[in-house]
Amino acid sequence: MNDRVLRVQDLAVDFKVREGGLLRPATQILKAVNGVSFDLQAGETLAVVGESGCGKSTLARALLALIKPSRGRVLWMGEDLNKLDVEDLRKKRQDLQIVFQDPLAALNPRMTVRDIIAEPLWTFFPKIARVQVDERVRGVMKMVGLLPNQVNRYPHEFSAGQCQRIGIARALVLNPKLVICDEPVSALDVSIQAQIINLLKDLQKKLNLSLVFIAHDMSVVRHIADRVMVMYLGRAMEISCRDNLYKKPLHPYSSALIKAVPVPDPRLARADADTGLTGDMPSPLDPPDGCVFHGRCPYVVKRCQLEVPALRRMENGDWVACHRAEELDLTIASVNKP
Ligand SMILES: Nc1ncnc2c1ncn2[C@@H]1O[C@H](COP(=O)(O)OP(=O)(O)OP(=O)(O)O)[C@@H](O)[C@H]1O
Ligand code: SF4
Ligand SMILES: [Mg+2]
Repeated sequence: MNDRVLRVQDLAVDFKVREGGLLRPATQILKAVNGVSFDLQAGETLAVVGESGCGKSTLARALLALIKPSRGRVLWMGEDLNKLDVEDLRKKRQDLQIVFQDPLAALNPRMTVRDIIAEPLWTFFPKIARVQVDERVRGVMKMVGLLPNQVNRYPHEFSAGQCQRIGIARALVLNPKLVICDEPVSALDVSIQAQIINLLKDLQKKLNLSLVFIAHDMSVVRHIADRVMVMYLGRAMEISCRDNLYKKPLHPYSSALIKAVPVPDPRLARADADTGLTGDMPSPLDPPDGCVFHGRCPYVVKRCQLEVPALRRMENGDWVACHRAEELDLTIASVNKP
């Protein structure tokens, strides 16, 4: 049975950016997301990874129909979100929730935890009985590891990790089918990061949630992702099953990101620690011709500067946008033993 919940087809988001002086302002087009396509199944976690500014949050906002795409479609349960009228889109939004990066900033400091978590319920069901709201709020608080007797406290009375649990409880209160987590652990200490990732993993299994988990570090998503999409300058460079990706990535940029993950014990330095990745990501206002990664790719050939590589499916079902994917062997060497 096909249990695909989300289908994204050739999605592009352009921003108009004003450049130049006061007298002669010029409008330029910034291609924040450029031709991204993927599917998501029920109960699947797709991680989206890439450097700062590659378009991850813009993609998240476009998936939730918070911004209109310049091109392409976002199909939720077969329906194009951008073709729905306001009321139908509002109903669909019940299924689609988001968890933000900075937990404390995302919570209204003047509201109690109860009101923060209950707010989406009041918005969607204005006539809902108070007793039902209380029951649901206490239920989701327990689900995310918060004590229901803390319901009348304010966000500043909680740690950053607990605030993120409140954010997750709020996202779950409407029983959504898809939760987009936009760097949900980036602002947290490493020890807390693992707790939140494990929590999300458990909740996903229990509730059969689909997750889009955004991060800029390959190590963060390793334990939660079923598949990983690697983004660069608004484009998908690779979409691969987690185990394939970490053993033998198909794209030179994925390989560089994996090799850039620090090894905690210096005695276990990677045999292939030199990532070959130099320089910064170019400006999305002036993307390079051909393969957008060609200026930083150690495997670049003439064709890469001329032709944009299409995202194409390989024999094993993974996807890659690289002209040389078949001939390159990017197997990740295991770390040296001391
Ligand atoms: N509203 C906007 N107007 C103009 N440009 C924007 C807007 N929002 C984002 N951008 C630009 O679009 C590009 C992608 O931004 P986005 O926030 O999606 O990246 P990101 O991958 O989430 O980065 P980070 O890891 O830093 O969160 C960036 O160049 C950013 O400056
Ligand atoms: S298409 Fe060329 S430049 Fe781009 S990643 Fe592949 S080898 Fe490198
Ligand atoms: Mg972002």
